[in-house]
Amino acid sequence: MGFGYEDLIEVRGTKLTRYGSFSKDNREFLIERPDTPAPWVNYLTNGRYHALLSHTGGGYSFFQSPRDGRITRWRYNSLPVDRPGRYLYLRDRSSGDFWSPTWQPTCSALDRYECRHGLNYTRIVSEYRQVEADLLYFIGQDDLEIWRFKIQNKSDQKKTLDLFASVELCLGHALVDLINQPNDQHFNDVHFNEKSRVLFATKRYWVPSGGVSVKQVNNTWDRCVFMASSLPVSGFDGSRDQFIGRWRSESNPVVVEEGKCRNSAITAGDAVAVLQCPLEIPPGESVEGVILLGVVPKEKEAEDKAAGLVEKYRDLKEVDRQYQYLLDLWQDYLSHYQAETPEPDVDRMVNVWNQYQTQTTFQFSRDASYYHGGLLFGRGYRDSCQDLYGPLKARSDRVRERILEMARFGFKNGSVYHCYYPLTGGGELTGHSDTPLWFPLSVTAYIKETGDWGLLDVEVPYADEGKGPVFEHLMKNIQYVLDHLSTRRLPLFGPGDWNDTLDFMGREGRGESIMSAGVLCYVLGEVIEMLEEKGDGPSAESLKSQRQQIIDSINEHCWDGRWYIRGTRDDGGVIGSSKCEEGQIFLNAQSWMILGGVAPKERALMAMNAAREILNTPKGPKILHPAYTQVDPGIGLATRCVPGKKENGAVFNHAASWAILAELALRRADIAFDYYKKTLPFNPVVDPDRYQVEPYVYAEYVTSPDHPTFGQASHSWLTGSAVWMLRDATEYLLGVRPTYRGLIVDPCVPSGWKQFKVQRKFRGATYAINVSIPEGQSGTVKAIEVDGRSIEGAVIPVAEAGQTVDVKVKVGDKQPTGPIYSR
Ligand code: GLC
Repeated sequence: MGFGYEDLIEVRGTKLTRYGSFSKDNREFLIERPDTPAPWVNYLTNGRYHALLSHTGGGYSFFQSPRDGRITRWRYNSLPVDRPGRYLYLRDRSSGDFWSPTWQPTCSALDRYECRHGLNYTRIVSEYRQVEADLLYFIGQDDLEIWRFKIQNKSDQKKTLDLFASVELCLGHALVDLINQPNDQHFNDVHFNEKSRVLFATKRYWVPSGGVSVKQVNNTWDRCVFMASSLPVSGFDGSRDQFIGRWRSESNPVVVEEGKCRNSAITAGDAVAVLQCPLEIPPGESVEGVILLGVVPKEKEAEDKAAGLVEKYRDLKEVDRQYQYLLDLWQDYLSHYQAETPEPDVDRMVNVWNQYQTQTTFQFSRDASYYHGGLLFGRGYRDSCQDLYGPLKARSDRVRERILEMARFGFKNGSVYHCYYPLTGGGELTGHSDTPLWFPLSVTAYIKETGDWGLLDVEVPYADEGKGPVFEHLMKNIQYVLDHLSTRRLPLFGPGDWNDTLDFMGREGRGESIMSAGVLCYVLGEVIEMLEEKGDGPSAESLKSQRQQIIDSINEHCWDGRWYIRGTRDDGGVIGSSKCEEGQIFLNAQSWMILGGVAPKERALMAMNAAREILNTPKGPKILHPAYTQVDPGIGLATRCVPGKKENGAVFNHAASWAILAELALRRADIAFDYYKKTLPFNPVVDPDRYQVEPYVYAEYVTSPDHPTFGQASHSWLTGSAVWMLRDATEYLLGVRPTYRGLIVDPCVPSGWKQFKVQRKFRGATYAINVSIPEGQSGTVKAIEVDGRSIEGAVIPVAEAGQTVDVKVKVGDKQPTGPIYSR
């Protein structure tokens, strides 16, 4: 095909990748060797206490906020990568030999290694010199992480071992710890409570918001960390210096080498939590136990409270009950949506991994990952508004809470914080042209799913002054954007739009964002529909005419001949035009003209055809072409970025997910599905050593053929593509989506599919939907039977909660003749 990447194409073997594969039921990803090209990470959480855990034991823990409530340290840009973590060392007393059953940090030559990342749990099983370690990590209902272990002696001789469990502590504000450690370490306190056999750690200083400043605050960290074991503890350490020793690292701590903790308590210095447990294991037998690491509020009885929790979890039956609770939780979560299609790849994503990832993006926004360090940005407003589509089916109560939280970060004039700190308040008000537009979408999506119109009436304070119902908040958001249009009725670019790296297009107040114009038309469409449903005809009419003016303006000023331009600059120039030297065509400027209902049919097809012709790669469509090679200060960061990466021409999966949606709106299922398959994280077209990151979740972007590292992915886990890929597949490809009045079934599946099934919970009832496409060409829905009776139209009425509804849908091969845009 002439892109010069043929050498990267791997012949697919029986295994998905050479490092591992999905389990048969898709509920786990099995990693079969530890030396993966990058840390492959999982999330453990109970909604308050959170942990990132790599397949080799790396990662950090935090309570509530990754910046303000950091429990353990993680070294950014560390070499070796991915340190420190939750490390266990096993030491054989007879030989002095020691190793880590998670491979890192000793990196000993394990005889066997397997890691299973499951839904909020990770299990690592390894063997070294006839000692098998079976480790299970998860978080309990209480605020503590559990490392459950079973150490088996597979030899015919007694093994006398010591188990050392260790973490490096941060204790509070992670950014302050990172940049002001020489001062911050003076407030640490780690000691061992002889009576309860629990190690305690805290800090007598805390900067609960902002960064380091000469204005000192007068706070103590409000948490107390504890570490304990269910096995007898023979020693402990709180001092990193004492534990690791001089000029050493986690790979060879002096304490482990010598086989004896130094019982170091500290009142200043770098802190660790280390426990030593002696193990005597007869031949063929095993020892089971737990290491517990958790937090309690810092109050007078903190140590007693922690000791009580430790007692509870020292009982392994309780630990197993907690694990079962977690499994049941996920069983329930996933039962809200399950599909059976002719494509196992689709089933794997929509039934498990895509749902799992979107629950994770909902929880962590773009804040805490291996690529988002959890130090700076808090919760992204636009990102979070989109992310809440993820748990909407299964956890609409949490989505409601989130919507109300977000409303508090909106201002009386309709603007919103671009990012905010839910725990400590405040955020950054930037003026990005699109940010206020996403909140109305969250609200309409929530009401369609739940039918809970009462949300609109809930009074929420504004971030500056006064309060108003949610309805007023969202109408103000729209009004704010409508009040910031150019003379041509197009949204002013400001310091950026969805694309944060087009950040110098409009700082002087003249540049216009065509993508935001498309998003605005889409959002207006949604809000008009809501107003009509609500019976507010006059407001709907007024918004309709304003929307039409914008549509007319785009079609008058922004059509370039084969596609739509991306924006205008303060200096009057344009981007995304065939007349530009670089950045001639942008994917989002095409997709959003279709999603927003802007492009007439002929232009819509031309624009998406041009996008396919120019932007398509074996990993999906690129965000723009040609990538910028020249820095253009009048455009911004995109042009400073190396060509082919990030927003400068990568396959940016978020943008790709909208292109898929646009193709589905145009009812070009085969093209949409081709993009969908290409962008799957486990698409074998790229060698896993090149792709690098986890094959079980979407990454933000994949390097395009415009860069020599084509196929390399980055920023896995926390990306807006997760939620939109899920919507693409479930709501528009399989076509089962909520409306105000019931579930609509309107599939748009690739040629050759003759049937599929969806089981979906909706407003308390369960819908078992069987779709048949006798001709193998998906067009208009011909007939729907609900519990044996045929209904008119494509909307299945809302059933009573608790009922199971049997739905049979027959799809014909004629393309719909009505409007091409279906939202
Ligand atoms: C990142 C940001 C998101 C932004 C996108 C494009 O994914 O989290 O907010 O829209 O990049 O710049």
